[in-house]
Amino acid sequence: MNNLGKFITLEGVDGAGKTTHIEFIKNYLSDLGIHYVMTREPGGTLLGERLRDILLHDEMTPETETMLMFAARNEHIDKVIRPNLLSGAVVISDRFTDASYAYQAGGKGVKEEKIDILKNWVQGSLQPDLTFLFDLPVEISMERLKKTKNLDKFERENKNFHENIRKKYLMLANACAERFVVLDSQKSIEEIQCQIKLKLDEALK
Ligand code: TYD
Repeated sequence: MNNLGKFITLEGVDGAGKTTHIEFIKNYLSDLGIHYVMTREPGGTLLGERLRDILLHDEMTPETETMLMFAARNEHIDKVIRPNLLSGAVVISDRFTDASYAYQAGGKGVKEEKIDILKNWVQGSLQPDLTFLFDLPVEISMERLKKTKNLDKFERENKNFHENIRKKYLMLANACAERFVVLDSQKSIEEIQCQIKLKLDEALK
């Protein structure tokens, strides 16, 4: 497949401030007149959003959770990500497969080899061109979450779970340094946005 567009993903522990920066990215790309599609996982399609509701609220085994994440992802890739990349759009996904490694392998202990199999099956050679990782010490992200109402099942998990997710994300960033940009969410919003702008300019030139 020859992608004409760019595939950008956003990752991080819950409470690391992704949401704040999504608005900034949307405005920045609009100002540049760049055609983009903002989407999310789990979700992004009608079926995917129904699966999101189940995934974020129902208890299930970690393996079932992993397979449902990839079922939603398969729809998402087929209906949204690939067609838009083929038509030359910038596709930005609020989470993608790195989250399955961080949450289901890092957080819940699913074997990485099992995730590798699903990844190869569902994704083939499709990879993000750029991944922003919003990184924050877990003590701080959990303090932020405490102030949020209606926490989902992942956000209600304990500190150890979130520590393992952060660790796994940082390991992924290290292993795939060519596409990851780690953003220190303790920095000011302006500093982070300056870094995002630089990397977007570089990726989209
Ligand atoms: P999130 O992206 O944090 O959305 P919001 O900001 O609206 O809370 O919620 C999605 C949750 O799903 C998040 O806790 C991480 C989890 N998740 C996985 O566990 N595995 C995955 O593969 C994906 C894509 C998400």
